[in-house]
Amino acid sequence: MIDGKKVLFSGMQATGNLTLGNYIGALKNWLTLADDYECFYSVVDMHSITVRQDPAELRSRARKLLTLYIAAGLDPKKNCIYYQSHVSGHAELSWILNCFTYMGELNRMTQFKDKSAKHADNINAGLYTYPVLMAADILLYQTDVVPVGKDQLQHLEITRDIAQRFNAIYGDVFTIPEPFIGKTGAKIMSLQDPTKKMSKSDENLNASIYLMDDKDTIIRKFKRAVTDSEGIIAYNDTQAGIHNLIDIYCACTNKTPDEVVKEFEGKGYGDFKLAVGESVADLLTPLQNKFFELEKDKAYIDGIIKENGEKANYYATKTIRKVQKKVGFPERIR
Ligand code: TYM
Repeated sequence: MIDGKKVLFSGMQATGNLTLGNYIGALKNWLTLADDYECFYSVVDMHSITVRQDPAELRSRARKLLTLYIAAGLDPKKNCIYYQSHVSGHAELSWILNCFTYMGELNRMTQFKDKSAKHADNINAGLYTYPVLMAADILLYQTDVVPVGKDQLQHLEITRDIAQRFNAIYGDVFTIPEPFIGKTGAKIMSLQDPTKKMSKSDENLNASIYLMDDKDTIIRKFKRAVTDSEGIIAYNDTQAGIHNLIDIYCACTNKTPDEVVKEFEGKGYGDFKLAVGESVADLLTPLQNKFFELEKDKAYIDGIIKENGEKANYYATKTIRKVQKKVGFPERIR
């Protein structure tokens, strides 16, 4: 709790271009929850170097992502929007938690298996202990709730296990966090292969909608979206492509799947795809305009980075000192 409010933490990696999946699965829920919680939204640049990065590019993407959080509507005066690498507590807590995490647990992480298959020439220890850094991110702020997409649920589970294990030894040190998963859109699928998650790193550019895509590109990608030959707009598991388009449309219009099915009764896929594309463009255009405007104001963004970095450090240090004491590190002499 901070000032009587429960704490929310979430983050995104500054790798690749953000997709509509990131927006619908995470950012959109961040916006609806922001007023009810004391929120920490991190640009998790330390996670990004588990895969080789070009330094200048990483720096530039991290800043763009931070700006995008604000452009999406998160008020940086109320929400702590900051870079993970500016708060040393993440690394400090991560080391301690490493000593409370079993290799057997890490071996089960599907994201590690996927990423090590993809980057077979660089299966580094950071990639392996990535979930521990994620646990540190969350536990550092005594977080109650973590809004994420479905793909991060396994990491939330291990975070809870580590926290419970630590608490069982040392007493009530960490708040046990709960995941928050949206009702629809928790897993937005690729437009080219609806059995696969929409991902920043997909090589097929038509598979993902990027948050900075212009309206024509968005409409074109939806027109080409892979569906089926049923010809009926229905919400079921056998029509994976249509199911995904309905999820996207629901997320953009705040309608329910039933309402959407009714709205498009007797209509063809062409009409539906166009409507979905337009709803996405309507959602993204104001965000893009705001982003371009904010990006120009260097001093404003710098001020936010400094102020919020200090705020995050303040709360992180509180937890770190408590944890250091619990595990038996000597007290600092003032
Ligand atoms: P990242 O950067 O891959 O994704 C950011 C957020 O977007 C969600 N997401 C999706 N949701 C629905 N459909 C999709 N196709 C889709 N693709 C991505 C993700 O679930 C995530 O919520 N390890 C995390 C970042 C992280 C983090 C944390 C998150 C680091 N520390 C602590 C929460 C709390 C990641 O790589 O997310």
